[in-house]
Amino acid sequence: MKKAFLTGVTGQDGSYLAELLLNKGYEVHGLIRRSSTFNTDRIDHLYRDVHESGAKLFLHYGDLSVSGQLMDLLHSISPQEIYHLGAQSHVRVSFDMPEYTADITGLGTLRILEAIRKIGLKTKFYQASSSEMFGAAPPPQSEKTIFQPRSPYAAAKVYAYHIAQNYRDAYGIFAVNGILFNHESPRRGETFVTRKITRAATQIKLGLKDKLYLGNLEAKRDWGFAGDFVEAMWLMLQQEKPDDFVIATGETHSVREFAEKVFAKLNLDYNKHVVIDPRYFRPTEVDVLLGDADKAKKTLGWKPKINFNELIDMMVTADLELAKKEKTLVDAGFPCTNSQRII
Ligand code: NAP
Ligand code: GDD
Repeated sequence: MKKAFLTGVTGQDGSYLAELLLNKGYEVHGLIRRSSTFNTDRIDHLYRDVHESGAKLFLHYGDLSVSGQLMDLLHSISPQEIYHLGAQSHVRVSFDMPEYTADITGLGTLRILEAIRKIGLKTKFYQASSSEMFGAAPPPQSEKTIFQPRSPYAAAKVYAYHIAQNYRDAYGIFAVNGILFNHESPRRGETFVTRKITRAATQIKLGLKDKLYLGNLEAKRDWGFAGDFVEAMWLMLQQEKPDDFVIATGETHSVREFAEKVFAKLNLDYNKHVVIDPRYFRPTEVDVLLGDADKAKKTLGWKPKINFNELIDMMVTADLELAKKEKTLVDAGFPCTNSQRII
């Protein structure tokens, strides 16, 4: 039985990847952070009590800022595959917390690579690189495009990308960079724009709120489905030689278009509810992301299965169900706190 170690297992991608690996018969070990509230919602459906026989998902407390403990964990687990997904992953927040973002999103990668090197672990390593690294580079962006990072988050990811390549060249570690364009799902964090829109629009539909405050509506993104994208991560680690791949749908749409489609699907007038709030503007913006995933198609045989409209349908349907549950609570006299959150 193959063993995989995942950082970021409690995140959007970690949950889909853990599902995929468990279905393939892997034993999955995930790094989780201690938190005063539960942070395992996205993987609770996968978890079986370790005291029961047949448990294949094991969770370990740790943090990407603590190298000694990462080393101990990797030494004791000795996984054949490591998927490094953990990060401070929010671009806007990285302007508020640049040092923390550099530490976790940038140096976190180095800490794992150093652990692999020092232990002498024979393992394959996946680095969650990002299309945000392309920044100001004009579209379409491919593996050959020069990075022009536009945020502390992107700069940290560029460091991580290069250090992964360096450890591949210098120490022969099987390290790959998956340069993934934006990917979304019903499990997407609620402060990323797609989920923020589907959550708010469905709550508006049920009368739970009236306004949705957004920033730059003209930015364009190449949005795919997270469930499709984690398959590409796995495929990259099944290759004989380590290499770097762009993963994208090859279509780009504006934030405005995404919001208009969501509101139209719910028979709502977008103009009555969407309000621009400059607090969501970024000091520097990435205007257009559009990926060329030709290399992944040819080498990995990967292509996305879910298109833009299907992604919107999936997210709206899931969030409408959630809003109905919230409405039941509100009608019973319990406050719905979601609309009060700072995002
Ligand atoms: P996400 O939902 O924000 O998940 C991030 C994960 O990292 C969470 O499990 C989080 O734990 C964990 N984490 C954060 N800080 C940590 C720390 N100090 N120590 C240990 N773990 C920590 O992100 P995602 O969308 O799944 O993305 C996965 C990875 O792909 C990230 O590296 C992201 O930067 C990258 N990426 C994402 C996209 C995309 O469109 N989704 C595109 C390209 C690249 P908690 O649950 O406790 O917060
Ligand atoms: N979050 C957010 N909130 N974004 C908004 C808002 C808002 O209210 N209004 C407009 N936007 C715009 C942002 O300015 C940006 O241009 C676009 O919507 C997408 O923002 P996010 O959904 O926050 O994603 P991102 O593109 O900045 O970053 C995501 O994708 C990267 C890959 O390109 C994250 O998942 C990163 O971790 C990932 O690397």
